Amino acid sequence: MAATLIARGGSAAARALTFGCLRQLHTVYQTVELPETHQMLCQTCRDFAEKELVPIAAQLDKEHRFPDEQVKKMGALGLLAMDVPEEYKGTGLDYLAYSIAVEEISRGCASTGVIMSVNNSLYLGPILKFGSEEQKHQWIAPFTSGDKIGCFALSEPGNGSDAGAASTVARLDGNEWVLNGTKAWTTNAWDASAVVVFATTDKSQKHKGISAFLVPMPTAGLSLGKKEDKLGIRASSTANLIFEDCRIPKANLLGQQGMGFKIAMQTLDSGRIGIASQALGIAQGALDCAVDYAEKRLAFGSPISKLQAIQFKLADMALALESARLLTWRAAMLKDNGKPYTKEAAMAKLAASEAATAISHQAIQILGGMGYVTEMPAERHYRDARITEIYEGTSEIQRLVIAGQLLKEYRG
Ligand code: CAA
Repeated sequence: MAATLIARGGSAAARALTFGCLRQLHTVYQTVELPETHQMLCQTCRDFAEKELVPIAAQLDKEHRFPDEQVKKMGALGLLAMDVPEEYKGTGLDYLAYSIAVEEISRGCASTGVIMSVNNSLYLGPILKFGSEEQKHQWIAPFTSGDKIGCFALSEPGNGSDAGAASTVARLDGNEWVLNGTKAWTTNAWDASAVVVFATTDKSQKHKGISAFLVPMPTAGLSLGKKEDKLGIRASSTANLIFEDCRIPKANLLGQQGMGFKIAMQTLDSGRIGIASQALGIAQGALDCAVDYAEKRLAFGSPISKLQAIQFKLADMALALESARLLTWRAAMLKDNGKPYTKEAAMAKLAASEAATAISHQAIQILGGMGYVTEMPAERHYRDARITEIYEGTSEIQRLVIAGQLLKEYRG
C-alpha cells in the first residue's frame, strides 16, 4: 500500500517536475573564468543538448537507438572533430573546449557523449598525432561531419586492463597486412565506418611488438559480434570485432611498426579527459535533478531542501563535482600547453567517474521512489555513471597510473 501511494504521489510529482528538471541546465561555471569562445561554445552545446537530446534521451536508452540525426547535427556544429585543424575539416579548437562540449552533451545524453568522445579522442586523436599527411586526409576529413564515425579496438576477450597482452596478430603478406583475432568492448562498433585497431606484429617483443592499423568498415574478413545489452549508455553500440584473414593495404599501418602500445597509451591519456568530461556531465545532470526535486518536494510542511540531511548531501555532491571539474580542466589545459598530462588525466578520470557514481547514487536517495523509476532521468544517470569507472581504464588502473607517475616524479 505504501509503495502504491509513493508511486502514485510520485508520478504526479514527476509530471510536474520533469519539465523543471530537464529545463534546469542553468548552472554557470564559476570555478574558472572561461575565455569568451569557450563560454559561447558551452552555451551552444547546452542549448543543443536541451533542445535535441534531453527530450529523447530516455527513449534512445530504452530502444538502444543510435542518435543518427543528432550526431549529424553535432557534426555540422563542429563537435565531432574539435581539436582537428581546419585543413583536415576539423574545428580547430583546444582540449578545454572539447572537455566543456563533452560535458554539456553528456549532461543531456551520456550515450551521445561517449559516441562523440570516441570519435574525437580515440579515433581521430591517434591519426592526427601519428598519421602521415596522406592518412590524415584520407581517414580524418570524412569523419568530421557526422556522416561517418570511427572507433578504437584495443581490448580483447582475454585482456582488458593488461593492454600489452594483445593476441590479435597482423602478418605482412606482400603489399597487405593480414589481421586475425577478436577485439572486445568496442564502442561505436555497429555504427562505425573505420577502426584504429591494435595487433601484434612480433610476439617475441611483447608490448614493443604491437602495431596500430587503420581498417575501413565494413571490409572483407571483419565481422561484428552481437550488440552488447548494457546497463547504461545504451544508445551507443558496443561489440566485438572479429578479424578472420582480414586484408588491408600495407599503407594502413599507423605510425611505425612496433609503436602501437605507445600510440594506445598516449591516445588513452587524451581519451581519459573525454571520459572524465562525460562523467562530469552525468554528475551535473544528476545534481540538477536532485536540487530541482529537493526545492519542490514537500515533507513535514516545507521543501526537503530545507532539511539538513538533504543539504549535507547536496553540499557533498557539489564539492565532488566541482573538484573533479577543476582536475579535468587542469588536465585539458596541460595538454593544450604541450605539457605532460598522463597523471593529471588519470586523476581527472578517477575523480570525475567516482564523483558521477556517488552523485547519481545520492540523487536517487534524494528523489526516493521517484529516483528509482524511469519517469525521471535519475535512474539513467545512475546506470550511465557506472561505465565511466570501467572503460578507458578502470579506477584501479587510474590509481596504478597515478602512483607510477608520482613515484617517477619523486625519484627524479
Ligand atoms: N604514454 C606514453 N608511453 C607510455 C604511457 C603513456 N601514458 N604509459 C606507458 N607507456 C610506455 C612506457 O613508458 C613503457 O615504455 P618502454 O617499453 O619504452 O619502457 C611501455 O609503455 C610499457 O609501460 P608499462 O610497463 O607501464 O606497461 P604495462 O604493461 O605495465 O601497462 C597500464 C600499463 C597502465 C596498466 C596499461 O596497460 C593500461 O593503461 N591499461 C588499461 C588499458 C585501457 O585503458 N583500456 C581501455 C580500452 S579502450 C575502451 O575502453 C573501449 C572504448 O571503446 C571506450
